[in-house]
Amino acid sequence: MTSASHLKEFAADIAREAGELARRRRAEGVSLAATKSTLADIVTEADREVEALIRARLDAERPGDGFLGEESGGGDGTTGVTWVVDPIDGTVNYAYGMPAYSVSIAAVEGSADPNSWRPLAGAVYAPVLDELFTAGRGEGAWLNGVRLAVTDETPAGALLATGFGYDPSTHDGDLLTVRQVMPLARDLRRGGSAALDLSYVAAGRLDGYFERGLRPWDFAAGFLLVTEAGGIVTRLDTASARPMLIAAGAPLHARITGALDKEI
Ligand code: IPD
Ligand code: CA
Repeated sequence: MTSASHLKEFAADIAREAGELARRRRAEGVSLAATKSTLADIVTEADREVEALIRARLDAERPGDGFLGEESGGGDGTTGVTWVVDPIDGTVNYAYGMPAYSVSIAAVEGSADPNSWRPLAGAVYAPVLDELFTAGRGEGAWLNGVRLAVTDETPAGALLATGFGYDPSTHDGDLLTVRQVMPLARDLRRGGSAALDLSYVAAGRLDGYFERGLRPWDFAAGFLLVTEAGGIVTRLDTASARPMLIAAGAPLHARITGALDKEI
């Protein structure tokens, strides 16, 4: 198997190229391609084109690897490495012209099942801000070449982020979770790109992040970024349709996990 460092460089290279394409297409104007799970769950022509570019680059240079992409699905490979790709994470921000969207590319060891894979490398690129977050297993997490670390102290309360799924029937439950966790918070953000939320935890721009129901491509790269920045990421209720992901430095991670057990 190729080294984590090589996979990271390759992921970073493709993420940059893909992000540039997404940014260019946004400047030209967005066209909605379809809705997916619910009316609020949209896909643009750019999501599809960007994923096709990423897949073509991977196929050309690493034809034996497996692939799982948000827009085109995928399958297992023969090398033991699988690429897990979100071409545009934060599609609603993208469609509305907000800058918080990213390309997320991860290489994992094993199949595309987050319950059994082992993350090897990841890149999250936010083209509007030209920020490239990268991590390789055992090699730390980086932002444009600067090493990242999660926060460990939150004396004024934690700056937290979360997200909500596209299915309105899940909103009440997610708001209850927010009520459970709010006593720990100095404030709460809803950025709109899970991959960036996780990158920001790695960078210490957020103290912690939690969200139910993320899909593998939303968190594959960000998961490694947080753990390589010294943080903890857990997924609870993995047998359910909407597992809960929690990411933070160790002390806050324990407090968020505890708050979720409290009745309110
Ligand atoms: C979504 C974003 C959002 C999160 C949703 C995801 P998409 O991904 O990451 O922040 O709250 O759960 O589905 O649809 O923009 O690729
Ligand atoms: Ca996504």
